[in-house]
Amino acid sequence: MPRLAGKTAIVTGASSGMGRATAELFAAEGAQVALTDVDAGKGAAAAAEIGAAARFWPVDVRDEGSIERAYGEIVAYFGKLDVLVNCAGVIGVDKPTHEVTEAEWDQLFAVDVKGVFFSTKHAVPHLIANGGGSIVNYSSIYGLVGNDEFTPYHVAKGAVTMQTKQDAAMYGKYDIRVNSVHPSTVLTPLVEGIAAAYEGGLPAYERMMTANQSLRRLGRPVDVAYAVLYLASDEASWVTGVNLPVDGGYTAR
Ligand SMILES: NC(=O)c1ccc[n+]([C@@H]2O[C@H](COP(=O)([O-])OP(=O)(O)OC[C@H]3O[C@@H](n4cnc5c(N)ncnc54)[C@H](O)[C@@H]3O)[C@@H](O)[C@H]2O)c1
Repeated sequence: MPRLAGKTAIVTGASSGMGRATAELFAAEGAQVALTDVDAGKGAAAAAEIGAAARFWPVDVRDEGSIERAYGEIVAYFGKLDVLVNCAGVIGVDKPTHEVTEAEWDQLFAVDVKGVFFSTKHAVPHLIANGGGSIVNYSSIYGLVGNDEFTPYHVAKGAVTMQTKQDAAMYGKYDIRVNSVHPSTVLTPLVEGIAAAYEGGLPAYERMMTANQSLRRLGRPVDVAYAVLYLASDEASWVTGVNLPVDGGYTAR
């Protein structure tokens, strides 16, 4: 039997990268999937390619009203909600704390922190009405450990790590499980731009980024999507509050 048979899922940031890979895998495993994203053109195309089990709703996770409206429509359309995947995210400026402007900080936090808050806030009532469900948040290895780049992103993803634990503690009484995944560097459009600009291009970037990683290759979106699939499915029905690295062993060293 498909691993998500009979389930309905919302995936934010589903137009691209790991959100799209997650939506594709969910549909292949029997779920009905609502793809949401601020990029409506790519989102609608992705849903059309996935097929009849998928449909796209335009959502800007910075805009609470757009989330509330879309989630109401999605539940009316599919009849219920079982799974929420909070994947939408941006990486922001690569600066140390003493150089970051207030505007740069606020822009990043509006998507990566407040977006997860708004999305969870408006999914939880539907999950309670459903008698339970699963929330999976995309954090990062940068939400677990520090290093010498992208300071605001580290702090934002650290907030997602804690939002995961707190919501797991709070919503277990409704049989809602909340877990997060923590990828190291995964080859998605977000990273392809950074790699292309690196001296020596992608091969040099891959060598540099994986030098301190046990498995010396960059991740692929599906590597992480399979972890999200497990956490979303009933196979993980006694797993909550877990911050799961999917990182080629980056945080093992
Ligand atoms: N790629 C990596 O190496 C990596 C590593 C660790 C964690 N992550 C996290 O994984 C998630 C997915 O990253 P990705 O690499 O697939 O990125 P991506 O850029 O390929 O996709 C991100 C998606 O989020 C959407 N988005 C951006 N702002 C939005 C908004 N305000 N409202 C709705 N949608 C919005 C974008 O349109 C895009 O479709 C992000 O949360 C990212 O921080 C990525």
